[in-house]
Amino acid sequence: MTNQSKGNAENPGTNKGSSSSESSHSSLTIDGRELTLSGDEGESLLDVASAHGEYIPHLCYHKSLSPHGSCKLCTIKVDGKFQSACLTTAKSGQVIENHSDEITDYRQQMIELLFAEGNHFCPSCELSGNCQLQAMAYDLGITHMRFPLTYPRRRKDGSHPDIFLDRDRCINCALCVRASNEVDGKKVFGLAGRGADSYLQVNSPDGTLGSSDLSIDDLAANICPVGAISSKHNNYLQRPGQRLYDQHSISELGNQRPDFEHMNDSNIDHADTRKSDPS
Ligand code: SF4
Ligand code: FES
Repeated sequence: MTNQSKGNAENPGTNKGSSSSESSHSSLTIDGRELTLSGDEGESLLDVASAHGEYIPHLCYHKSLSPHGSCKLCTIKVDGKFQSACLTTAKSGQVIENHSDEITDYRQQMIELLFAEGNHFCPSCELSGNCQLQAMAYDLGITHMRFPLTYPRRRKDGSHPDIFLDRDRCINCALCVRASNEVDGKKVFGLAGRGADSYLQVNSPDGTLGSSDLSIDDLAANICPVGAISSKHNNYLQRPGQRLYDQHSISELGNQRPDFEHMNDSNIDHADTRKSDPS
């Protein structure tokens, strides 16, 4: 059994039957649980699920950014048909299936493909324990790979004084692209190429981070769900075993997890971390 099929301990009401107080409003059901709609125009199924503490796996979705629909982890069945929860507008009366053996197998394949397309050597990655891709693989019960590893050799970029870019770990989720465009207002990043040859492009005079406008305080520098964009200053301040997903499964934290904050200097108590390090 995966952790996800057990429900979400931190979200009371998850996997329970319908509530009589909700039944008089526009509503839909997810795995038999009735959820009311907010009435907001364009509200997605992932928005509705998040608002009610119903966890739907996702990697490329962020509540503050436009949806991208690339990771397909949020795949659900809507009235019997596969859809992406982050791209599908919620409508009253929809019957949603979120957890089933079939959907879990599909999500496992999506994660395995992401691992196969990149170089994700978790034991040597600083983000191990804080990485959402790794956490989701554990949570979905992945124990082996069905696809051959491709070992890409993409360009790394250490030219920025504060930030390192390892494209081999990039899953092309475009969170940094959207964060830079929509929140930071800088358009530092873009996705170039097609299919398996897609790669993260830096929009600067020489194509490197060092000559870009990216700042360590930008959302784009802090939003990467894997170890592709990382701070040069936080390395190993949190010890393995004490990191976010070492302590909690990603589905246990659900949609309430402190998304992406692990990369931000202000969210790590440097003094405390050093104190607990015997070296
Ligand atoms: S660098 Fe990180 S945030 Fe940007 S596209 Fe790649 S995985 Fe996503
Ligand atoms: S979260 Fe919906 S496709 Fe990535």
